[in-house]
Amino acid sequence: MKAALEAIRAAAHQQLQQAKDLRELDDLRVRFLGKKGELTAILKRMGSLSAEERPVIGQLANQIRESVEGELAARTQALKAALQAERLRAEAIDVTMPGTAPAPGRQHPLSIVLDEMKEIFLGMGFDVVQGPEVETDYYNFEALNLPKDHPARDTQDTFYISENILLRTQTSPVQIRTMEERKPPIRIIAPGRVYRSDAVDATHSPIFHQIEGLVVDRGITMADLKGCLETIVKRLYGEKAVVRFRPHHFPFTEPSAEVDLQCFACHGQGCRICKGEGWIEILGCGMVHPKVLSICGIDPEEYSGFAFGIGLERLVMGRYGIDDMRLLYENDVRFLAQF
Ligand code: DAH
Repeated sequence: MKAALEAIRAAAHQQLQQAKDLRELDDLRVRFLGKKGELTAILKRMGSLSAEERPVIGQLANQIRESVEGELAARTQALKAALQAERLRAEAIDVTMPGTAPAPGRQHPLSIVLDEMKEIFLGMGFDVVQGPEVETDYYNFEALNLPKDHPARDTQDTFYISENILLRTQTSPVQIRTMEERKPPIRIIAPGRVYRSDAVDATHSPIFHQIEGLVVDRGITMADLKGCLETIVKRLYGEKAVVRFRPHHFPFTEPSAEVDLQCFACHGQGCRICKGEGWIEILGCGMVHPKVLSICGIDPEEYSGFAFGIGLERLVMGRYGIDDMRLLYENDVRFLAQF
C-alpha cells in the first residue's frame, strides 16, 4: 500500500507539472483527490490493515494529499498568472504612439459669404425670414404681377410639379408671404435655394441661391435703395468697390434696375472673369410695384418700398475669383480646403 501511495505521489507530481491549462489541472484534481479518486480508493482499503500499520499509512496518505493539494494550488496560481500576462501582452496599447488626426471640416464658401451678409443686414435692422422652396404659381408669379400669359415667365425656365405647384424660380415669393403676414415697417432678407431648368455650365446651375430683400415703410425712395445696396457692396468688397445702377425691367418693381459691380480683377478693363465687360451683374432691384403692395393689402398711397434679389453664387465667385460655378457644388476637398 505504501508503494501504491508513493506511486500516486509520483504520478500526480509528474502530471501536475505537465498540465498545460486549468481544465487539465481540474481533471487531475478529480482523478487524484476526488471522491472516486485514486487516493480515496486506497484510503477505503485501510480497514484491512493491522492496528500498527493503519496510523503509518494514514499519516502517509494525509501527507500525500496535502502535498498534491499544495502542488495543485501552486500550479493553478502559476497558470492563471501566465494567462493574465498573455492577455495583458495581447491587449497592450502604446499610448505614446502618434495618432491619425481627422481632417477638420470647413465652412463652404457659399455659407461664409451668406453668414457675412446676414451679419451686415442684421446690423442694419433687417430680419432673416424663410419661405418654402415648393411654391404655388400664385406666390411665385401671379402675386408678383406676372399673370399667366406674361412673357417674362418664359425667361425663368420653371420646374413644374403640377399646373399650379412649382419649384420657386426666385426668392421673390417670400416678399408676398411676408407682406401678407406683417404690417409695415417691414425690413427683411430671405436667403434660400431657387430652381431653374438650366443646363449646367460655368455660370449656370439648375439650383442656385438668392438673397431677397424687402423694405416697406412710409416715405421710402429710390435713394434709400441705392444707399442700402451701396453700403452692402462696400461692406462685402471694401470701400474701394465701385457699383453702377443700370435701368432694367422687372414686373414687380417700378422703376427697376440692375446693379453691376466693377470687375475686381481688371478694374473695368475687361478680362476673362467679367467676360470682357469690365462689370459683373450682381443683383436686380427696384421700387415695389404699387400693384404688388395692393395685392398684399398694403395701401400704396400710404406706403412705398424697395426690393432686391442678389445672386449668392455670383457674389461668392466675385469675392474669391472663382471662374466656374460648378466648383461650388462638386465638393472636391482640394477646392473646399482653400477657404
Ligand atoms: N427675382 C428676380 C430674379 O430672380 C430678381 C429681383 C429683381 C428681385 C428685382 C427683386 C427685385 O426683389 O426687386 O431675376
